[in-house]
Amino acid sequence: SAGSKITINGVEYETHPEFTNVSGTIHNLCDRSLHLKPSHPIGIIRKLIEDKLNSTSDAYSIYSNFKPVVTVEENFDSLGFPNDHPGRSKSDTYYVNDKHLFRTHTSAHEMECFQNIKAPRNVTGSGTRTSKPGFLISADVYRRDEIDRTHYPVFHQMEGAHIWTRSKETLKEGQEPTHIQKLRAELEAIEKQLQGESMKLQVEDDTSLEGNPKQDYMSDLEVELCSQHLKRSIELVVAQVFNKKVESMGGAAKDPVLPVRWVKAYFPWTAPSWEIEVFWQGEWLELCGSGIVREQVLLNAGYEHNSTIGWAFGLGLDRIAMLLFEIPDIRLFWTHDDRFHSQFEEGKISKFKPYSKYPGTTRDVAFWLPDDQTCKVIHENDLMEIVREMAGDLVESVKIIDDFTHPKTKKRSLCYRINYQSMDRNLTNDEINAIQESVGNELVDKFKVTLR
Ligand code: PHE
Repeated sequence: SAGSKITINGVEYETHPEFTNVSGTIHNLCDRSLHLKPSHPIGIIRKLIEDKLNSTSDAYSIYSNFKPVVTVEENFDSLGFPNDHPGRSKSDTYYVNDKHLFRTHTSAHEMECFQNIKAPRNVTGSGTRTSKPGFLISADVYRRDEIDRTHYPVFHQMEGAHIWTRSKETLKEGQEPTHIQKLRAELEAIEKQLQGESMKLQVEDDTSLEGNPKQDYMSDLEVELCSQHLKRSIELVVAQVFNKKVESMGGAAKDPVLPVRWVKAYFPWTAPSWEIEVFWQGEWLELCGSGIVREQVLLNAGYEHNSTIGWAFGLGLDRIAMLLFEIPDIRLFWTHDDRFHSQFEEGKISKFKPYSKYPGTTRDVAFWLPDDQTCKVIHENDLMEIVREMAGDLVESVKIIDDFTHPKTKKRSLCYRINYQSMDRNLTNDEINAIQESVGNELVDKFKVTLR
């Protein structure tokens, strides 16, 4: 309601009657900082990647304390998201008010970190003065989404970026500009390191820029070197992390080979852009989005036109951690159960041993949507949110099992199956019935549906 306030991580915000949609669940999860726990799978992976990327030349400042509430400007505008981009919608994003939201990706901090490279100062994220040419940001990110074993409203990303200042010296015949020489030398160092890794990658690299154009302000050579620097840096991380996994499995193959491929992608703040996919256990897994930073982002951060080139990537930590530690359900990351936490050790990838599989139970909720045009239209993520609020981590998945429109009345009916199951204990019928009833009541209250 108008004039009311909420406090998040010690900061007070005005709520907004139309925008505010932060739930209690989110409020409770936003200070857990799993990525900072040294022996939590998310923290272990984060540290491995940071150390690996900094092993070549210590080029990256580390930021891991950014608070999750950012401005719409930081999360979307500064990165060139169009006004009608679906990511901005209230059905996909948790808004604190019309100007603040829970970051949906770590790219929200790119601007600030680019500014820090240009004008080093003490910053909240790192506490150190920095003038390294690159940065790595790890943080929790928030998205309204479906509920199943791989989706949770909070997950973790690592953002990486590296820039080069263009040199403007007068060149002698046959001499290359300093930044080109630097790029070449750094690229060579990374390539050498890659060759020394015991895990070999079989890389399918889509280098054609058809439908994935470069920016005019960069030369072909700059795009070429910058893209290779980006791709080889990420390949180095992949080789390291997956090799650790293979080793932990008993080092099955002597010289393991991992197929990876670079696929064209689109992000509003990079051009050209790619995603890297890794072939693991019979499936192509999408690991990370990336690209050459659009100059507009650098201009927004205070850089001069034509002065700077660079790349950025954003990597999801939870999915890699689930796969490497063989964690079957994303909720386990959030449990307080020591039978989970005692299994992991800093710097080590180990297979998760399920301590027990507690039985689950399902309940269906079926309802008619209202024909009253004046009520709020329910989005599937709204239903997910209600279940999450009522059931907490006792819900494993929610799936639509029926959707039909009555031929005569034209009324539409939906039915969702809710799978209740706890990671830590047995559930009683009474508690599930009570939760299920409150889910129904909330749906009626908030969205004027008629339960069937
Ligand atoms: N932020 C993007 C995502 O969440 C990933 C990305 C980061 C892509 C940086 C390009 C550059 O999907």
